[in-house]
Amino acid sequence: MIKTEIVEIDCVDIDQGKITHCGEVIRRGGTVVFPTETVYGLGANALDPAATAKIFEAKGRPDDNPLIVHVSGVGDVLPLVEEIPQKAKMAMEAFWPGPLTIILKKTSAVPYIITAGLDTVAVRYPSHPIAEALIKASGVPIAAPSGNISGKPSPTKASHVIKDMDGRVDVIIAGGDCQVGLESTVIDMTTETPTILRPGGITLEELEEVLGEVEMDPSLMTGEFQEAPRSPGMKYTHYSPRAEVVVFAGPSQSVVKAIQNRTVELLAEGKEVGIICSQETEGQYHKGIIKALGSRSNMKAIAAKLFATLREFDETNADVILAEAFEEVQMGKAIMNRLIKAAGYKIYRV
Ligand code: TXA
Ligand code: MG
Repeated sequence: MIKTEIVEIDCVDIDQGKITHCGEVIRRGGTVVFPTETVYGLGANALDPAATAKIFEAKGRPDDNPLIVHVSGVGDVLPLVEEIPQKAKMAMEAFWPGPLTIILKKTSAVPYIITAGLDTVAVRYPSHPIAEALIKASGVPIAAPSGNISGKPSPTKASHVIKDMDGRVDVIIAGGDCQVGLESTVIDMTTETPTILRPGGITLEELEEVLGEVEMDPSLMTGEFQEAPRSPGMKYTHYSPRAEVVVFAGPSQSVVKAIQNRTVELLAEGKEVGIICSQETEGQYHKGIIKALGSRSNMKAIAAKLFATLREFDETNADVILAEAFEEVQMGKAIMNRLIKAAGYKIYRV
């Protein structure tokens, strides 16, 4: 157990003294959990292999899953990568600071522990004011995966990281809720046609508008890999609450019926049932612990609540969570990618 210091920082009125202190912890080789606009990250000096090793230990993260390096400006990327291809420049200009992570060829400045032995590195310039201030104050790029215990839903509130990381890291910055609520989009820019390896805060549609043709890695929604996954994180179970999750996809009324029927069966078996639905159908469920993510007309709001809602079920006795599917357009791709992983790919088409 490490003694964890919890530092509260108001993101609209940042206390520079506290940020300077947290930046020093990073520079000295310590670990700091901090908010970003997507999810909380668990950071350490990206150029210090001993410091980054602490991240893997704190999370229980497999060492073949590489970390994202966070910077506070495009200039910070230059020493880390061989080159910034034209399309990557365009993406940085359009979406940074923001929830887009770009894979480029790494230089020897980036330790292999960060990239899990790959010759590429993932870089991201987050837009959250506390994240940006922390990176600047530390004076080094910050390696940071999501700040959850490996396999759990990513943390979007200070209470989530305190639950997972108290006693495992040097500092936790409690800085409010994360606005996007699911992780950045990861895009591989080392190939001619950019390829999305993880859908996230920037949508395929938004990327296509700036970059032209963009591919989605074919294994994203199925969990089936033809060869070694291009992004090692793809192959791990993820985002799993304590309860088993099952997703129901199909026409809205068929989904409601199927979830109602399954709820009755499970209750008869003596199981506690949780239901994840939308505002539109919430009124049609009468049994189980019902949580609506929001209206289907606002997919960003649904994304923002997904992980927090999965974690809320850990505070209940739910044994099984039955979840409505969401349409895989715009933010819906990232929502479904996370939900299907949380379900271990258990999806019923009705
Ligand atoms: O929004 C986010 O991206 C958050 C915040 C903290 O910035 N971070 C985050 O990190 O989600 P993490 O470690 O939970 O997810 C990073 C993903 C993993 O799926 C990993 O496999 C992939 O990025 N990745 C990292 N480096 C890579 C590389 N060189 N090539 C391919 N995939 C890579
Ligand atoms: Mg993660």
